[in-house]
Amino acid sequence: MLYKLRFWTGLQRFALQHLSRERSVFRLFPSVRAQTTSASAMSLERRILQYVQQQALRGDPDSVMAAIDKFGWEREFAMNVGDVKGVILDRFVKETAPKTMLELGTYMGYSAIRTVRLLPETARFITVEFNQENAAVAKEMIAFAGLQNRIIQIMSDSAEVIPQLKTKYGVETLDMVFIDHWKDVYLRDIKLLETNELLRKGTVVVADNIIKPGAPDYADYVRTCGKYDSTFHESNYEYSNDIDGLEKSVYRG
Ligand SMILES: C[S@@+](CC[C@H](N)C(=O)[O-])C[C@H]1O[C@@H](n2cnc3c(N)ncnc32)[C@H](O)[C@@H]1O
Repeated sequence: MLYKLRFWTGLQRFALQHLSRERSVFRLFPSVRAQTTSASAMSLERRILQYVQQQALRGDPDSVMAAIDKFGWEREFAMNVGDVKGVILDRFVKETAPKTMLELGTYMGYSAIRTVRLLPETARFITVEFNQENAAVAKEMIAFAGLQNRIIQIMSDSAEVIPQLKTKYGVETLDMVFIDHWKDVYLRDIKLLETNELLRKGTVVVADNIIKPGAPDYADYVRTCGKYDSTFHESNYEYSNDIDGLEKSVYRG
């Protein structure tokens, strides 16, 4: 009996390793279909989270970032700011030393973790994400990095959150903003930040993906409206050699 069971399990394992794409194998071994389907049905973000949980050190933000970057370079693309542009973002964060910072576009929490590790414990970092599943992955990623008490995650559309920042979240003005959500709403949201009086003289607004995928209306606005001292910082698109860059715009007040 035991011999028969071992033989059957071995045959299934062989089928899973060598023949699992064959329909006939799924018909023969329904459990093989269940195993392969559940693995491939997992979202990219969940697969990255699982990879981080296996490869990184719990409570160590640097190892979490390193694992996400390794996955991005060696396995599959993911739309994090990444390790190349990330170094430029790090420099802006260190130079600005914000006490209150807003991020638009949390995704899986990579840039939030990257930034908060450079800030003192007293700094307030608020990040906004409207995709429920991305926000849930970010919550787990941030907790794995040990930064759950340092990052305020808001799950909502940025257009709804920005007008509530003063009244609901007690923000007076922002020292720094990282804009990295959908590119066609960058312009709408910087104007919302202005009209809701969340920017003060010297607020540093950094926007990602100025070249790829590109935010031309936003770039044109910050460079020509006269309200900002704006500079472009060329770099690479995440996990590739393609050209991209960050726009750093300092509000004149
Ligand atoms: C490029 S990813 C952010 C990457 C992240 N900043 C990083 O570097 O790790 C953009 C994210 O913005 C979110 N997003 C897009 N438009 C949004 C909006 N209007 N409000 C809130 N989140 C938004 C998307 O769901 C997506 O998760």
